[in-house]
Amino acid sequence: MSNYSGANDAARQDPLSQLKWLVDAGADEVMGEAPVNRFKAAPPAPPTPEPLTDKATPATPPRPSVGAAMRPTGELIKNAQGLAQECQTLGELREALSRFEGCGLKQTAHSTVFADGNPKAELMLIGEAPGRDEDREGRPFVGRSGQLLDLMMAAINRDRSSEDPKTSIYIANILPWRPPGNRNPSLEEISLCLPFLKRHIEIAQPKILLALGGTAAKHLLETPTGIMKLRGRWAKVATKDGEIDCMATFHPAYLLRQPGQKKYAWADLLQVEQRLQQK
Ligand code: URA
Repeated sequence: MSNYSGANDAARQDPLSQLKWLVDAGADEVMGEAPVNRFKAAPPAPPTPEPLTDKATPATPPRPSVGAAMRPTGELIKNAQGLAQECQTLGELREALSRFEGCGLKQTAHSTVFADGNPKAELMLIGEAPGRDEDREGRPFVGRSGQLLDLMMAAINRDRSSEDPKTSIYIANILPWRPPGNRNPSLEEISLCLPFLKRHIEIAQPKILLALGGTAAKHLLETPTGIMKLRGRWAKVATKDGEIDCMATFHPAYLLRQPGQKKYAWADLLQVEQRLQQK
């Protein structure tokens, strides 16, 4: 045929062009150690695993962590709790997370996204998990939803770069590692990371917590109730040192898709600010 197809063939053989084509198509994560030939006939189905109690049906199934191979989840969670509880400072907690090999998400993530903002802030925000931009930068909420979050915070006179606890915010996520392809995290992954977040909150000692979105709200408040019912109401998060007032609101990523819901988030933020003024 024409030269055109010859040029295409050459490009197809070139590993760099192949890689660029994959990245442009959105395949920007390494999902496994060995290539999988998906044209080969599927092997016989393995025995049915324990049902996931999570609502999510992940596009990419969570993989067991290498460091933790064959160790029961309960044991790994206990290990996470022990490691987290030993930490007395945020520096120690960050270090403990970087040593923790119990959660498989760490193997596919580029960074451990610990936190951003002012750790002394009165208001601590909890999101769900880093996305692609956050994974690349190693900071939470730096992508599109982060930009909206910054605008939302500016509307209540708060700024993550402020040094004043009264005008700043501190931000962390339920998960410090990006789930590959932004799939929903499994319950197991969340349970393995929660001990670190709980200790994070205990050490930071914010006056108020703001849960962003359904996943953060459900797991912070330990309830199966959805965000539509949880948002706009005060609840308590129990810590070793007492209880912290917690408000849930919509996740900025949801507000980007549903701008008509911003008025509810605004009402939630006003409640938060009002209560902070009273503390
Ligand atoms: N969404 C989150 O929940 N957290 C982030 O850090 C970024 C996007």
